[in-house]
Amino acid sequence: ILFLFASTVQAQTYPAFKDLPSQQAVDPLVGMDGTKITSAAEWNTKRKPELQHLFEYYMYGRKPDAIKVTAKILFEDKQVFGGKATLREVEISFPSESCPKSYLLMALPNKAQGPVPCFLGYNFTGNHSLLADKRIHLPTVWMLGSENKAQPNRATEEGRGKQVDTWNLEYIIDRGYAVATLYYGDIDPDRADQRLGVQKHLWKLKTPEDDDPASVMVWAWGSSRILDYLETDKAIDSKKVALVGHSRLGKATIVAGAFDERFAVVIPHQAGCGGTAPSRTKNPKNESVERINKAFPHWFDTNFKQFGPDTSKLPFDQNCLMALCAPRPLLITNAIEDEWANPAGQFQMLKSAEPVYKLLKAGECASEKMPEVGQFIDSKLGYWIRPGKHSMIKDDWKIFCDFADKWLR
Ligand code: GCU
Repeated sequence: ILFLFASTVQAQTYPAFKDLPSQQAVDPLVGMDGTKITSAAEWNTKRKPELQHLFEYYMYGRKPDAIKVTAKILFEDKQVFGGKATLREVEISFPSESCPKSYLLMALPNKAQGPVPCFLGYNFTGNHSLLADKRIHLPTVWMLGSENKAQPNRATEEGRGKQVDTWNLEYIIDRGYAVATLYYGDIDPDRADQRLGVQKHLWKLKTPEDDDPASVMVWAWGSSRILDYLETDKAIDSKKVALVGHSRLGKATIVAGAFDERFAVVIPHQAGCGGTAPSRTKNPKNESVERINKAFPHWFDTNFKQFGPDTSKLPFDQNCLMALCAPRPLLITNAIEDEWANPAGQFQMLKSAEPVYKLLKAGECASEKMPEVGQFIDSKLGYWIRPGKHSMIKDDWKIFCDFADKWLR
């Protein structure tokens, strides 16, 4: 199956970098052959698959095939947060003995009657950091930073409960949602050597082949595998899963939303360059394609490196990735001091994804101009910018929950 998939992708032909035309902006409703897309059917059968393939080939690498995962509940406690929630951790295994496992931490509201909508997303610091609870698995893989200076790049006991305010599990429960999260390094440890995560165990890497999956794509694929598991969990309403991710994990969130229609709501938070910000930007205050390719080469595929000096040749911009989430609700959230992530450019991208939503009669972005700080635009294409910096805090969760209330309840 892997072989068949690989050959379908390679059967497509794509222009070499030098043959791509320079363009100031890309209209999601104009195909590579120049034809205008004028119906939902043309979008769904022609332009949507074309854009997915273009993003795979020139930017994120091929999306790996689905793989069957199996799950084992490691512990379950029905009495957390004063009896308000059930906490459990689930070990997710892939069909290869040698492959590292993933650990999914879940909290479910006890008062829910029937299957409950759920927030899903990766965390940066390990499940153990989100709640001080000795039972929660301590990651054993490489980690960005550490609470214990003597053990750099390792999760340690000192980290337990240190990031309670990032994922705000109890608050999410109080809002009536379940939440499922895992450490992103379980899937891909965010190192230049991508062979350290699940990849080398599950498929053949051909590096430096142009369309090998890069880290952002692998994280996106991983969230789809977790959704496969949630679909088997009767307590979860798997048709109402809102995918959330911050920063590089926001990039993975928008990619997952663009490639997997099962995510009912997509919330890339402060995703910036390579996610929701325009790639053609020239402002030194904002991260550029050239900078991101140098600083984080493993996030994107080999082809993408060519566009560093000349982004005008990109056959898409990130508005096209947003448009691939249509007709589903998409919320873009930012912070005013986070210029690096280009909040204003992200709003422009959202507006220029809107023609696709309108063509599909799926809704709009209900603001013509970039909203003021604190003004929440909760339309199908939603936008919010708060005071403060690059981070994920309770104020963000309030907005994520309000948006989910509007579109999932
Ligand atoms: C860096 C990087 C961003 C990224 C961020 C993060 O700042 O330049 O593109 O979003 O790290 O993931 O925290």
